[in-house]
Amino acid sequence: MTSQNARAEDIVAAFNPMAPDQIENPYAMYARLRRERPVFHSPMFDLWVVTRYEDISEVERDTGRFSSVGALDARAEPHPSVRNVLKQGYAQFLSLVQSDPPDHTRMRAVFGRALSPQRIAAMEPSIRATTNGLIDGFIGDGQGDLVQQFAYALPAFVICDLLGVPRADMQQLKGWSDDKTLLMSATAPIEQQVESAHGFIAMERYFKEKLQERGRKPREDLLTLLVPPSMGGTAPLSEQEAVCNAMDLFSAGHETTTGLIGNGVWLLLNSPEQLKAVKEDPSLLPNAIEEILRKEPPVRGFFRQVLADTTLGGVSLPKGSRLFILYESGNHDETQFSEPDRFDIRRSDAKKHLAFGKGIHFCVGAALAKLEGRIAFEQLLQRLPNLRLRTDEPAVRRPYLMLRGFEHLPIAWDVPA
Ligand code: HEM
Repeated sequence: MTSQNARAEDIVAAFNPMAPDQIENPYAMYARLRRERPVFHSPMFDLWVVTRYEDISEVERDTGRFSSVGALDARAEPHPSVRNVLKQGYAQFLSLVQSDPPDHTRMRAVFGRALSPQRIAAMEPSIRATTNGLIDGFIGDGQGDLVQQFAYALPAFVICDLLGVPRADMQQLKGWSDDKTLLMSATAPIEQQVESAHGFIAMERYFKEKLQERGRKPREDLLTLLVPPSMGGTAPLSEQEAVCNAMDLFSAGHETTTGLIGNGVWLLLNSPEQLKAVKEDPSLLPNAIEEILRKEPPVRGFFRQVLADTTLGGVSLPKGSRLFILYESGNHDETQFSEPDRFDIRRSDAKKHLAFGKGIHFCVGAALAKLEGRIAFEQLLQRLPNLRLRTDEPAVRRPYLMLRGFEHLPIAWDVPA
């Protein structure tokens, strides 16, 4: 083995997006991987990791070679004790993001209606009211935890309202959704995965009941649009697809946006000149949001399955290989973005980031996420004078394979007179 190869093998072995230093700042390692081993097999996760922007885009575009079945799932197979619990529910998780055409095309049409631009735009007043209601709850304190008191609740309330489930159920749903994320990351100890599998099944039952209710008594909400004929509705879905999509919508609709808000506040508070600029000119916010999504994407990557022997980036991939397409790395690819590690809210090409994916699976909630982000940043910056990071308490990032965001982000501000 040459010394060049030996070094490349070392970084492959060191790749562990769950290690605290790589959760904190994985970008230097990704830069080396893009140069030296852009597509490689990680023995630790048994996944082929794809790090270059162009290769990730090729995977996203070519749904004939790369399947999305299991796209949320790091596990090839759940552990038998986890499977034992999961068999109380549906045998397979059939949702939009985890499907290929023609199923994907059929399901996506339902979402197009449910999350149409008109529906999203009409939500602005209620999102602003929710945002201000949350800020009212802590503005007098002068300090707090941005994630626990704000970024966590805002998107969760918004997705509850959109789905049409009571806000009182938010904490319960959030717990189950965390179970679902933990289960699919498959990095937790088995006992914890078993516990999460119970949460997963409870979430399935919850949405099945709600969909049955909507079948009997339709309402003006997104759940009603998902009710299939077998449950009394008209959506071109099976019962299983309706339940799985409702579950995915709750998870996709909030934890990602929590990441956007937390990552954005952290980036802005660490860049005083840019913070000042957006405060003085809020019209800079839309591009700042694109740059936040590029610099610190809330979804680190997604999974794919190789349908037939193929090559990617010059590397042979056998049929059945599981890929981890790492947006987090693609968004820092120096062949696409100049000085990619620099945060620059005026970057003219920030928008071509991969944070929402590409091609047929492009995030169907992107407009809603950006609307929530814009309202959140506008209100926080307007209402919390001299907003700053606290130095007495550390910011803590969430330890997930797929998600990038904070669990705790301690902040302080001057209490308005
Ligand atoms: C900043 C927030 C968000 C980020 C970073 C994000 C990220 C993504 C990404 C990367 C994909 C593509 C997955 C792939 O290619 O396999 C995706 C798809 C999806 N997202 Fe989002 N998302 C966000 C917010 C939302 C919201 C608010 C909703 C729901 C209201 C949502 C619902 C979905 C759904 C249903 C899909 C599947 C689309 C398909 O497969 O056709 N997302 N999202």
